[in-house]
Amino acid sequence: MGKDKLRRFAENLTFSCFIQPEFDEIFHRDHPLKGHWRRDFFHNDRPIVLELGCGKGEYTVALAERHPDQNFIGIDIKGARMWRGAKTATERGMKNVGFVRTRIEFIESFFAPNEVDEIWITFPDPQLRTRRAKKRLTAPQFLAAYARMLRPGGVIHLKTDSKHLYHYTQAVIEHFGLPCTVANEDIYGTGLADEVLSVKTAYEQKFLACGLPITYTCFGLGDRTEFAPFDWDGDDTVEKDNEAERTQPRP
Ligand SMILES: C[S@@+](CC[C@H](N)C(=O)[O-])C[C@H]1O[C@@H](n2cnc3c(N)ncnc32)[C@H](O)[C@@H]1O
Repeated sequence: MGKDKLRRFAENLTFSCFIQPEFDEIFHRDHPLKGHWRRDFFHNDRPIVLELGCGKGEYTVALAERHPDQNFIGIDIKGARMWRGAKTATERGMKNVGFVRTRIEFIESFFAPNEVDEIWITFPDPQLRTRRAKKRLTAPQFLAAYARMLRPGGVIHLKTDSKHLYHYTQAVIEHFGLPCTVANEDIYGTGLADEVLSVKTAYEQKFLACGLPITYTCFGLGDRTEFAPFDWDGDDTVEKDNEAERTQPRP
């Protein structure tokens, strides 16, 4: 492992905003902060917004700066990437930011029913192979987990360049009859991108350099709590995505 990565891993442990639980602290167990983030971590009563698969945490930090009246938590498994966000939040003395290094599959060990107000999912891996569809962060199993922590009326924001993930998410929304307030296939081309939607993550910058349109979906879960597994016809197509374009920057 590179020296720089090791240095970042070590520095992460010195940041008060950075939580890195041991596996046995959360495997089939509740983390001590579950249900107590406001009281024991943020020391206020304000709303909690998550960024899932936060990478370097651009949304977590940018939203926290714009909304000092809300709390933001970035979640990812890659500590070396998260270091960037945690370092920035620490240097800027931001008290409304947290980072949790964990797999999103364990998210229910961290958040109690109604504890979360909003979720951002920023450029997640689209998991194009059909057999990996259940790993998509908008797949029914994940929505079921979000439903167990999101407050009534709470919303989920998805930003992605992946057409396949965008259309899959639309199909999931339709299948379960979920309330969807925005479904936009090109936020910059249509002028939808406001100050918040224009925050650009590391991956977004890469995809923009490839000339790809950026999509945005904003939806809720209504009062649904059950999300049975769902096979989408669109997964039967051979040509799934803008896969080649995603990896080639424009000349
Ligand atoms: C394509 S990157 C996007 C990162 C960042 N949101 C951005 O837009 O630059 C996807 C991120 O999701 C994280 N990730 C993927 N699956 C995950 C999982 N099951 N649990 C935690 N993190 C995950 C990866 O570590 C990676 O940082």
